[in-house]
Amino acid sequence: MKIIIINGPNLNLLGKREPEVYGNMTFDTFYEELKSKYPGITLSYFQSNIEGELIDKIQEVGFTYDGIILNAAAYTHTSVGIGDAVKAIATPVIEVHISNTFSRETFRHQSFISPNAKGIIIGFGLKSYELALQSFL
Ligand code: DQA
Repeated sequence: MKIIIINGPNLNLLGKREPEVYGNMTFDTFYEELKSKYPGITLSYFQSNIEGELIDKIQEVGFTYDGIILNAAAYTHTSVGIGDAVKAIATPVIEVHISNTFSRETFRHQSFISPNAKGIIIGFGLKSYELALQSFL
């Protein structure tokens, strides 16, 4: 089973960025742990701060992979383009967020991803990604 985690802007700063919201662990450390916990899954990871690069990656994997775990970060709330890309592809997408976006500012309550996601996992810290992975098993 081929699954990719796609992270959007500023998620390269996990571990340093607002630790009270996003925790202390870097994504690389978490990702290495996740890979060793699920050796049967062919897991890959892509991060970009650039909207078009995220769209390119979604298109690239979106007809061949078995699943996409997508945290589009701030673009979740602004990007019609990423929302359209999720709608355009055949691969199911699970939308994830580390923080509970509904307990934060109202601009974070809107998502252009959710209408076309297979499911949504929000607010469990980095565990949100693992729960999404399990949903594909
Ligand atoms: C986030 C929530 C977004 O509102 C925010 O812009 C992020 C991270 C999360 O995982 O909690 O960058 O997607």
